[in-house]
Amino acid sequence: MNWVLSMTYLWLKAGHIIFVIFWMAGLFMLPRYFIYHQEAELGSEESARWLDREAKLLKIILWPSLIAVWVLGLVLAYSTGAFAHGWFHVKLAAVLGLTAYQVWLAGYHAALQRGERRLTGRKLRMLNEVPGIAAALIVIMVVLRPF
Ligand code: HEM
Repeated sequence: MNWVLSMTYLWLKAGHIIFVIFWMAGLFMLPRYFIYHQEAELGSEESARWLDREAKLLKIILWPSLIAVWVLGLVLAYSTGAFAHGWFHVKLAAVLGLTAYQVWLAGYHAALQRGERRLTGRKLRMLNEVPGIAAALIVIMVVLRPF
C-alpha cells in the first residue's frame, strides 16, 4: 500500500511540474505575441493572424495548464498538509498573482480584438518580467521552505 501511495504522490508532483512548465511557457509567449502583433498594421491580415495565434495559445496551452497546475497543486497540498506552512502561503499568494496576470492578459487580447492597443511595446516587454520574478519566488518557497 505504501508503494502505491508514494508512487501516486510522485506522479502527482511530476504532473504538477510538467504543467507548471507549459503554463510558464505560455505566460512568457503571450506578451511577446502582443508586441509583434502591435507592430502589424491595424486591421491587416498580419494583425488577424496574430489574433488567431493569441487565441490558440490561450485556449490550447494557457487555460488548460493553469487548471491542471491548480488541480494537481491543490491535491498535493491537501495530501501533504501544505496549508499549515508559511512557505505555502507565500507560494499561493504568488500563484494567485500569476493567475490574475493571466486573466489580465486574456483581457488585453480581447481589447486587441476590438482594435485597442493600450500599451507600448516597451511597456509590454517590461511586463514580461512578471512571470519570471513570480516563478523564482515560488520555486524558492517550495524547494527551500524557509518558514
Ligand atoms: C496553482 C497553485 C499551486 C499549488 C496549490 C501548488 C502546491 C504544491 C504542493 C503542495 C507541492 C508539493 C510539495 C511537497 O512535495 O510536499 C508542490 C510542489 C512543487 N510546486 Fe507547486 N503549487 C502550485 C503552483 C506552482 C507553480 C505556479 C509553480 C512554479 C512556478 C510550482 C512549482 C512547484 C515545484 C517546483 C514543486 C516541487 C518541489 C519539490 O519537490 O521540492 N507550483 N506544489
